[in-house]
Amino acid sequence: MKKPKHHIFVCKSFRGEEVKGLCAKQSQGDFLSYIDYEISDRGLDAMVTASGCLKMCEKGPVMVVYPQNWWFGNVKTEEDIDEILDALEEERPAESFLIGD
Ligand code: FES
Repeated sequence: MKKPKHHIFVCKSFRGEEVKGLCAKQSQGDFLSYIDYEISDRGLDAMVTASGCLKMCEKGPVMVVYPQNWWFGNVKTEEDIDEILDALEEERPAESFLIGD
């Protein structure tokens, strides 16, 4: 398999074996399957993976795009995901969701 250009991590709130963080509680819907569908539909060279708690719970739900190291917070709806993926298609971060340094 060829390595993807972008690797998107979506926080699934795992700490140990349990879902304890806030991201899963704050998000609306199953972002993993939605993002996976959108990647395919848009023809993006990307893959999506679930992650454990990314230690930014207060800014959640959180997702990260590598290798750019873009961290996005307050990603709560499919419309928010669309905005982030629209920007990714243009090789730029969706500024309104950026968090961290
Ligand atoms: S639960 Fe998502 S950053 Fe902690």
